[in-house]
Amino acid sequence: MATKIFIKDFKDHVGEEILIEGWMFNKRGSGKIYFLELRDGTDITQGIVVKADVSEEIFAKAEALTMESSVRITGVISKHPKFENTYELQVKDIDIVQLVKEDYPIAKKEHGIDFLLENRHLWLRSPKQRAIQVIRNTIINAIYEYLNKNNYIKIDAPILTPNACEGTTELFEMEYFDEGKAYLSQSGQLYIEAAIFSVGRCFDFGPVFRAEKSKTRRHLTEFWMMDAEAAFVEHEENMKIQEGLVCFVIEKVLATRMEELKTLERDIEPLKKIQAPFFRKTHYDAVEELRAMGSTISHEQDLGAEDETILTQKYDKPIFIEKYPAEVKAFYMKRDPKDPSVALCADMLAPEGYGEVIGGSQREDDYDVLLQRIHDHKLPEKAFEWYLDLRKYGSVPHSGFGIGLERLTGWICGIHHIRETIPFPRTINRIYP
Ligand code: 4AD
Ligand code: MG
Repeated sequence: MATKIFIKDFKDHVGEEILIEGWMFNKRGSGKIYFLELRDGTDITQGIVVKADVSEEIFAKAEALTMESSVRITGVISKHPKFENTYELQVKDIDIVQLVKEDYPIAKKEHGIDFLLENRHLWLRSPKQRAIQVIRNTIINAIYEYLNKNNYIKIDAPILTPNACEGTTELFEMEYFDEGKAYLSQSGQLYIEAAIFSVGRCFDFGPVFRAEKSKTRRHLTEFWMMDAEAAFVEHEENMKIQEGLVCFVIEKVLATRMEELKTLERDIEPLKKIQAPFFRKTHYDAVEELRAMGSTISHEQDLGAEDETILTQKYDKPIFIEKYPAEVKAFYMKRDPKDPSVALCADMLAPEGYGEVIGGSQREDDYDVLLQRIHDHKLPEKAFEWYLDLRKYGSVPHSGFGIGLERLTGWICGIHHIRETIPFPRTINRIYP
């Protein structure tokens, strides 16, 4: 039997008879010759079935093949007569694994977004959706690689928690046996803060949940977050680490995923410009700038979605918006000693209108101040006792940040709505499939 190989490795096997396993996603030809568009997950290729070169039985199978039928195909790899670095398969044998008997629901024509989301389990097979998932995987691995190289240890934070991390209005709540209420984690941050006292620097990477009723192109109810936290790192250094990470991820994608970026028709020029240092702006200055552009935002307010869009369309590199009014940010953020009305925080906004991809800050490390904040935010002190303990036993200045994987993937892929960047999106009006 011919050796089984992946389509991506065709270039190393020109002239050899090999076997591929995959799906037929399109077919042209008739009578004397068929061109089968084949994919195996790693790449796509064209299989050529010539009537004069194969048995009647094999040609009949080519004739019978329908869209998305699964196949094992044996053939000889040849160079494409016209295109550089393109290979074809001169088909010798066809083994139909499953012949699709119904019309495949996702045809070549344009479908509405609701139809595609309803058929997400099938839509994932299309070239663009495959490209997004492949790039998402590259981004995940690049994040791990960068953090491991920089002495961060992966610490898995729990998903079922007794307390809120971010706003209490966005919590998914459930009854937890005899223990009262439990909540789905909004971020593993508080737990990895505990772990820095053990390993110094650490990160988590997992699904998080927000019950917020936002219907924007940037919000999901379930998404993946990487939280990183480091002991003895203050506000400035926290931003440097983020710049380093984002630059590394983009370099990795540009170095290894050009095919997929091409499939997505992503203009890569803006990505090539992403280099440290990124822009830095205080919230105060950003508000001034936004107001000059026509926004009605005030100095006391958080940036709205529209504000982030118009601001980031102006710049060709990410912007750190620093020092938000403490009132609009989470309870755990340390305040700026020079101006206690603002937090020592920064959100990283991606260019081209993408907006916030990272939220980070220095953390309050003083026991009494933190306790006061917990009271100010009307949070249940009991549930945060363990978190307060961290400020009792060897408290240190420390900082961290959280990346939304779908936001980062959406920006790098140039995808408008982040629901396409997660395999099975959960939004306020979708839980199927
Ligand atoms: O800004 P957020 O809410 O920050 C935190 O949760 C911190 N505890 C993180 C930390 O400091 N360790 O969320 C972090 C990031 C955002 O910048 C955004 O990229 C993403 O998570 N994000 C969402 N992504 C998709 N859908 C949502 N509803 C999101 N909410 C936040
Ligand atoms: Mg945020």
